[in-house]
Amino acid sequence: MMQLLHALSAVLFAGVALSLPSGEYPQLDTRQLSSDNCTEYTSVAAGSVCIHIPYDCDATYIVEGGDTCKSIGEKFGNFSLTQFYKWNPDITRSCLALRAFVPVCVSTPWYTLAPPSAVQAPAGAIVPASATPVPVMPGAAPSCAAYLLVGPGVRVDAVVTAAAISLEEFLEWNANVDPEFPTVWSDYFVCVGVEEEEEGEEGGDGEAGAEY
Ligand SMILES: *[C@@H]1O[C@H](CO)[C@@H](O)[C@H](O)[C@H]1NC(C)=O
Ligand SMILES: *[C@@H]1O[C@H](CO)[C@@H](O)[C@H](O)[C@H]1NC(C)=O
Repeated sequence: MMQLLHALSAVLFAGVALSLPSGEYPQLDTRQLSSDNCTEYTSVAAGSVCIHIPYDCDATYIVEGGDTCKSIGEKFGNFSLTQFYKWNPDITRSCLALRAFVPVCVSTPWYTLAPPSAVQAPAGAIVPASATPVPVMPGAAPSCAAYLLVGPGVRVDAVVTAAAISLEEFLEWNANVDPEFPTVWSDYFVCVGVEEEEEGEEGGDGEAGAEY
């Protein structure tokens, strides 16, 4: 992955060097690259980066220092964070790859936030993986089937109780949570259920965590 990124930026920088008269550096320069379907964006603050946004994106926003997916969602109020991620896959499901000074797509002609959809689920909501919840705390199990949105100040024991799972399960499904001092990030989704494994024999009835 890192290697790919390096290779990609080498190509992009080479492209910029060729397209620029020497001694000049534009404030803003975008163009389509056919190879990776990405748009090259260049500014003094961001340097030269390759971004992936829909070809029909009709409004962008330049991310500011300190922005988060949540703050951007609240600033606009007219798209869900899931849609924001789908428009801007570069930010990743955790939103941790959101970069200051780089544009993100905030609109396409075919999208409107129609009730009962919301910018974000209410704190404590448990949503299926099929809803593509965003942002997800890093380390969630790839087989995660259900996510809970952690509200401000919520502790792991409260999450475990709300989801009716064991602490062991929670730690297993959220690999980046420190087992010794488990904490969760406010306003992030954590994994509270995984896909049932196909098994020949049926275990006890309904008691999750029986393997412990
Ligand atoms: C670029 O987009 C086209 C059309 O959407 C798609 O078929 C192709 O696989 C994409 N290429 C890459 C490298 O993603
Ligand atoms: C959201 O609001 C911004 C600012 O008014 C606008 O540019 C953008 O098109 C809107 N996005 C959607 C999806 O309506």
